[in-house]
Amino acid sequence: MGDWAVRRAGPADAEALRQVHAEGWRATYAGILPALAIDRELKRRRATGWGPTLGGQGLAAVLVAESPEAGVVGFATVGDPRESIADLEAEIAELYVLPAHQGRGVGRTLVEAAARHFVRHGLFGFYVWVLRSNRARFFYEALGGEPVLEKTGAVGGHPYGLVAYAWHDLTRLVTGADAPGALPPIG
Ligand SMILES: CC(C)(COP(=O)(O)OP(=O)(O)OC[C@H]1O[C@@H](n2cnc3c(N)ncnc32)[C@H](O)[C@@H]1OP(=O)(O)O)[C@@H](O)C(=O)NCCC(=O)NCCS
Repeated sequence: MGDWAVRRAGPADAEALRQVHAEGWRATYAGILPALAIDRELKRRRATGWGPTLGGQGLAAVLVAESPEAGVVGFATVGDPRESIADLEAEIAELYVLPAHQGRGVGRTLVEAAARHFVRHGLFGFYVWVLRSNRARFFYEALGGEPVLEKTGAVGGHPYGLVAYAWHDLTRLVTGADAPGALPPIG
C-alpha cells in the first residue's frame, strides 16, 4: 500500500481525469491501436466527459486514487452494467493508472475500492471489458477475475477482440467491515 487514498471524484476533478485518461490511453494503446484510432477515441471521450457521474451519490461514480505529492494518479469509472453478462450487477467501465505510478498497487486499490462501493450498494458481482491484446488481462487475473465472455468491439472506430473478466464473489477483494459476510442482516 502506498501513500495514496481513494475517494469519490467531484466536478473539480474533471481536468485531472481527462489528463490521466489521455496519458493512460496513449501509453497503453500505442503498440496496439493505430495512432489515428487513439486520437479519435480521445477526442470522443473528451467530448463525452464524466459530467453527471461526478459529484453524485449513486452507483455511477468515478473513484480516484490520489497522493498528496502527485495528485490524482489513477481512476475507475464504475456503475450499472451496460450489458447483461452472467447476471453480474455492476461494471468497471474504465480503469487507468498513470504510467509512472503503475506496478505499485494503485490499480489493485482502485478495484478493491470499486468492489467495496458495489457491496455498499448491495451488489455482489461485477465485470470489466478489456482488449484481448492488453496485458492488463494479467492484472485482472492476478485479482481473481475470470474470463467469461469474448466479443468483437469497436475501439477508436476499429474492430478489436475484447474479453470480459468477472468477479462473482467479492469476498476476496473486500475485507474488513465492508466484507459481504460482515454486513448486518437486512430487515
Ligand atoms: C492495468 C492497471 C490498471 C493495473 O494497475 P497497477 O497499479 O499497475 O497494478 P497493481 O500494481 O495494483 O498490481 C496488482 C497486481 O496485478 C499484477 N499485475 C499488474 N499488472 C500486471 C501485468 N501486466 N502482468 C501480470 N501481472 C500484473 C501485479 O503483479 C500485482 O500482483 P500482486 O498484488 O499479487 O503483487 C494499470 O497498469 C493501467 O492503468 N494500465 C493501463 C491502462 C489499462 O490497460 N487499463 C485497463 C483497461 S480495461
